[in-house]
Amino acid sequence: MSAYTITYIKNENKKEKPDFDNLAFGKYFTDHMFILDYSEQKEWHNARIVPYKPLQLDPAAIVFHYGQTVFEGLKAYKTKSGDIQLFRPNKNMERLNRSNERMCIPEIDEEFAIEAIKNLVEIDKDWVPDAPGTSLYIRPFIISTEPYLGVSPSSTYQFIIILSPVGAYYEEGINPVRIAVENEFVRAVKGGTGEAKTAGNYASSLKAQEMVSNKGYAQVLWLDGIEKKYIEEVGSMNVFFVINDEVITPELNGSILNGVTRNSVITLLNHWNIPVKERKITMEEIYEYAQNGELKEAFGAGTAAVISPIGELSWNDKKIEINDGKTGKISFDLYETLTGIQYGRDEDIFDWIV
Ligand code: COI
Repeated sequence: MSAYTITYIKNENKKEKPDFDNLAFGKYFTDHMFILDYSEQKEWHNARIVPYKPLQLDPAAIVFHYGQTVFEGLKAYKTKSGDIQLFRPNKNMERLNRSNERMCIPEIDEEFAIEAIKNLVEIDKDWVPDAPGTSLYIRPFIISTEPYLGVSPSSTYQFIIILSPVGAYYEEGINPVRIAVENEFVRAVKGGTGEAKTAGNYASSLKAQEMVSNKGYAQVLWLDGIEKKYIEEVGSMNVFFVINDEVITPELNGSILNGVTRNSVITLLNHWNIPVKERKITMEEIYEYAQNGELKEAFGAGTAAVISPIGELSWNDKKIEINDGKTGKISFDLYETLTGIQYGRDEDIFDWIV
């Protein structure tokens, strides 16, 4: 059977839906999932949408031991008129293949993957929430399934898509969060897997996150893994700083994730004629800008939280308050415009909506 025919087994035991006004992030899952297998014959095949249920995998499956796996995250949004739309899914599928390449996982057909997402979302469309700020988070991922304890790429895989109705990623929503600069642990290094969306990068972030959350910080600001000097990301998001009238974000260097929201923010800023520079930035510089009153705003940008303003940065024993701990104008305008396009309130001037 060609990968292009998707078979469907309907879930006859549908779950009760959660309260769409109290979703939090990533706690509930819909009635169906999509699965595509990759066999030793070196082809993707057996595309199917089946009832959501636990997977059965060999305990020796490579994914459990050596983390050969990649994932993506995007969302489906319900518009006022009840239509359901995706935001730039082609960007996510392009990146999935870049992650695949880095992790020695066979390439997937990007257009087919988008078709699979559309089919699955259509089947579970009752799960797309419509309360303000909510959406259906789409999690495509690939796992290595071959039972083998030698360290080498798997010969078999599963490409799976699951769906989760979600609210805000941070309970603060568009309100600023407190962030601690991380001086000890690093998330990724140049030459490592930082640019791939793979589990290990997130696993390596947990310790630092756990340590700062005990002190009341939402997340850490990551510095580069070699000199621990240059700013890389914030939590699991890309980071931006407004310095006077210019916006600065760390340039992509191999260890920073090439975010879809990052790209959308840069496109919008260009469109608004707000100067934006992708360059190396040190924490020393940011501190100096803050001391001189030139640091106007800082924010994280990612699919899950969209725009998450930073109200306070703690660095060694120094505290930097940003914009009096309030959401700045650029952060707010970006949030409003991005969500405006995503939920169909604003015109889709860049052709981002599918
Ligand atoms: C995002 O910002 O969308 C992320 O990457 C967070 C995700 C891992 C939950």
